[in-house]
Amino acid sequence: MSQIIDTNNLPKHIAITMDGNGRWAESKGKIRAFGHKNGVKAVRDTVEAAAEIGIKFLTLYAFSTENWSRPQSEINALMSLLVSAINKETKTLMNNNIKLSTIGATDSLPSKAKKELNEAIEETKGNTRMTLILALSYSGRWEILNATKNLIADGINHEKINEQIFQQYLTTKSVPDPELLIRTSGEYRISNFLLWQIAYSELYFTNRLWPDFRRQDLEKAILNYQNRERRFGKTKKQIQN
Ligand code: IPE
Ligand code: IPE
Ligand code: MG
Repeated sequence: MSQIIDTNNLPKHIAITMDGNGRWAESKGKIRAFGHKNGVKAVRDTVEAAAEIGIKFLTLYAFSTENWSRPQSEINALMSLLVSAINKETKTLMNNNIKLSTIGATDSLPSKAKKELNEAIEETKGNTRMTLILALSYSGRWEILNATKNLIADGINHEKINEQIFQQYLTTKSVPDPELLIRTSGEYRISNFLLWQIAYSELYFTNRLWPDFRRQDLEKAILNYQNRERRFGKTKKQIQN
């Protein structure tokens, strides 16, 4: 009998490193861009499923700071895919009452991508069921360095700096830390994603390549999360009392 998701114990925030598009395409004898294209279907399915399950925040790692080092032709393919996906999927976001936002150095994206993103962010800003956060030109170290620079620029007294204040300088300042971080494609690493925010996240790895990831895979990850005991440094006995 398959287990049922406990709606009283849902992660508020799920973060996903969508990895394996290139290998998916190569296994089919296609170019890497074909994998990215098919990754969009997985994004649509996952976003809809997350909203229906009742997840409040979904962060998708779509392009890292380090991904700028890929061949220019692949970067171009990814950027034009971003433009067309945002353009086509804004109505999916509206139909599902989902608000779009981004984290990362989005100023460095091509102007067409910035324009599409800003339009979609503006159009969906009143939506309330779930917030979809796209990490674009994002890296955890970039974010922490930026926060530090801005703390100093604001003249915050070093004695006053604590976790709460530091958090206010992160790109995720109005978002709770992810309780669950999923990575596809069988790689067991963080790759510079949400370094501060994942301090106590539950990590879930699956061999599924991103273009094959579907609702059932998301449900499986959530069920796995619900069977874990989160202790936050305490003992098992303390948690159970
Ligand atoms: C993830 O798939 C998408 C991005 C990083 C943009 P990859 O392109 O990393 O695919 P693999 O890991 O090479 O298979
Ligand atoms: C991480 O995937 C970044 C994104 C999914 C956007 P990569 O494929 O870039 O990660 P590494 O380089 O294999 O660690
Ligand atoms: Mg990869």
